[in-house]
Amino acid sequence: MNDQYQGVAKFYDKLVKKNVNYYEIATEFAQIIGEARDLLEIGIGTGLVVENLLQIEPNYRITGIDTSESFLEEAQKRLGQKVDLHYQSVSELDIGKKFDVAYSRGGAWTFVNYESETMLASHIFSSVDIQKSFDCVAKHLQAGGRLIISFSNAYTDTYTDKVIELDNCIVHKKIATTQLIENELYAILDYLFYQNDELVTQQTLKLKLLSHQTCTMMLEKAGFIEKDINPGKYYIYLKN
Ligand SMILES: C[S@@+](CC[C@H](N)C(=O)[O-])C[C@H]1O[C@@H](n2cnc3c(N)ncnc32)[C@H](O)[C@@H]1O
Repeated sequence: MNDQYQGVAKFYDKLVKKNVNYYEIATEFAQIIGEARDLLEIGIGTGLVVENLLQIEPNYRITGIDTSESFLEEAQKRLGQKVDLHYQSVSELDIGKKFDVAYSRGGAWTFVNYESETMLASHIFSSVDIQKSFDCVAKHLQAGGRLIISFSNAYTDTYTDKVIELDNCIVHKKIATTQLIENELYAILDYLFYQNDELVTQQTLKLKLLSHQTCTMMLEKAGFIEKDINPGKYYIYLKN
């Protein structure tokens, strides 16, 4: 499976904890989730969203999937028996269970603002596989279940092109660009890590950008209807 995070795995937690307020995100999710208990995180990463959700409501039953073995190991260390983890891509998802709510927080896909347009930024590149991923999520949701896709400012945030200090004298810089490859638009994120002015790790992350309109059509094809939008925060889709 395509793991685009191998190079940044050891710095990921330190980096995101400086830039993402996971407790605030989990609090917003908990409000949307309401009385539902069976949850699926699509692209659980190192488990930071789940850790915060369980602080708010220890009775959530959470399953997490991811295509990065190193992140799943971190999630297992962080959450132990409190979570059910699977090394699976959402476009091949098959875990024989139905959930009340599925969500992706900067996971397999996220929404971004690009040149005043809302676009889906997807770790999955081919349209066929993106459609399969939506179909698979629909199959794993109860009737009336919800899919939450959150917004990310990872491509436009204030720290892009600025240097951020992590600990151990490690500094980080991210360079965000877009590229047109065979008529398809991609966000390209270069993560650079320096120690004592020397480049120690570099990782390039590539995400396919799809218009919101195309994404909505694909989600409708999978059986979802757009239910609620909180601009800049999340979109919620209802499974018919
Ligand atoms: C930016 S990280 C976000 C992790 C976590 N949700 C968080 O908020 O910290 C994106 C995650 O999505 C995972 N991912 C990418 N493509 C995926 C796919 N097709 N299926 C499942 N997970 C995927 C990556 O491996 C990575 O762990």
